[in-house]
Amino acid sequence: MKTQNSILENQNEQEIKNMVRERYEKVALQDKALNASSCCGTTDGSKEIYNVMSEEYDNLNGYNSDADLGLGCGLPTQFAQIKKGDTVLDLGSGAGNDCFVARHETGETGKVIGIDFSENMLKKARQNADNLGYNNVEFREGDIENMPVSDNSVDVIVSNCVLNLVPNKKAVFTEMYRVLKDNGHFSISDIVLLGELPEALQKDAEMYAGCVSGAIQKEDYLGFIKEVGFENIVLQKEKAIFIPTDILQKYLSKSEIEEFRNGKTGIFSSTVFAQKNPSSTPKKVIVQKEETICTPGGRCC
Ligand SMILES: C[S@@+](CC[C@H](N)C(=O)[O-])C[C@H]1O[C@@H](n2cnc3c(N)ncnc32)[C@H](O)[C@@H]1O
Repeated sequence: MKTQNSILENQNEQEIKNMVRERYEKVALQDKALNASSCCGTTDGSKEIYNVMSEEYDNLNGYNSDADLGLGCGLPTQFAQIKKGDTVLDLGSGAGNDCFVARHETGETGKVIGIDFSENMLKKARQNADNLGYNNVEFREGDIENMPVSDNSVDVIVSNCVLNLVPNKKAVFTEMYRVLKDNGHFSISDIVLLGELPEALQKDAEMYAGCVSGAIQKEDYLGFIKEVGFENIVLQKEKAIFIPTDILQKYLSKSEIEEFRNGKTGIFSSTVFAQKNPSSTPKKVIVQKEETICTPGGRCC
C-alpha cells in the first residue's frame, strides 16, 4: 500500500533531515495528548492507546510539564548517574524535558546544554528555562551530526528518542565520543528494531519522522557504539513498542497488518549506557529489562 508520503527512497540524507526538521517545527506547536497518542507527534493520534512510546515523567525530580511534549520513548536520566556540578548534554532536546530533570541533578554548580535544530523547539525550551529562572541551562541550535560543543568538555550525554531520526547514526556516536571527557558516559533512550519493517512503513516519511522507520537493527546500533570506542556498554532497559492498528491501517492493508503482527519484527525502546575511556572500575550500572520476551506484534505497551 503506497501513501502520499512514500517518498523516502528518492531522498538524500540532507533532504531527510530537512523533512524531519520541518515536521518537528509543527510538532513543537501541538499538545502533549496528540503527540503521545501518535508516533512522535507526526502521525494521526490513536484512539486505542494513549501513550504509544512515551513514558510518564511526573515522578522525576525537576520535571516541568511545560517542557513535556510527549515525545520521548524512555527515561534516559533515570540511568544517567548525573552528579552535582556535572556538565550534561542533551541531544535533540525538544522543549527541554530531560534538560530540566538533569538540572535538578547537576544543581546550580553544573551546566546543562540542549541541542536541537528546530527553531520552534528551541524557542519553547528557552522560554521554559527563563520561566524557571535557570541561568545554567542553555539551548544551542545545531545538528547533532556536527555538534556545536568543544572536545572533551562534557561529563554526561543524555538523549530521548532522537538518534533514530538521524540518517548517519555513526556520525552522532563519533561526535558523542569527541565531546565527552575521559571517564564520561552516556545514557540514551531510542527506538531500535529486530527484523525488517514492512516496505510501506520503511519508505514512509511520516513513519520516519514518527521515530519508527529511521530506526536500525539493535545489533548495528550497539555495533556503532562499540566501533567508535565506547566501553562498558549496557542495555539498561528495553520495552516492546506496539503500534496501534488504527495508525498502521493508514500504511498497511488488513492482511499486511496481520502478517506484521504475526511475524518476527519487533520495535523496541531501549536505554543504553556506555563510557569513554573508563578508569579501571566501571561505573555501577543498573539493568532493568522490561517485556523483552513479549512477542513483537503483541500488545506490550
Ligand atoms: C522525538 S523528538 C524528542 C524531543 C525530546 N528529546 C523529548 O523527549 O521531548 C526529536 C527531537 O530531535 C530533534 N532532532 C531531530 N534530528 C535532529 C538533528 N539531526 N539535530 C538536532 N536535532 C534533531 C527534533 O527537532 C526534535 O525536537
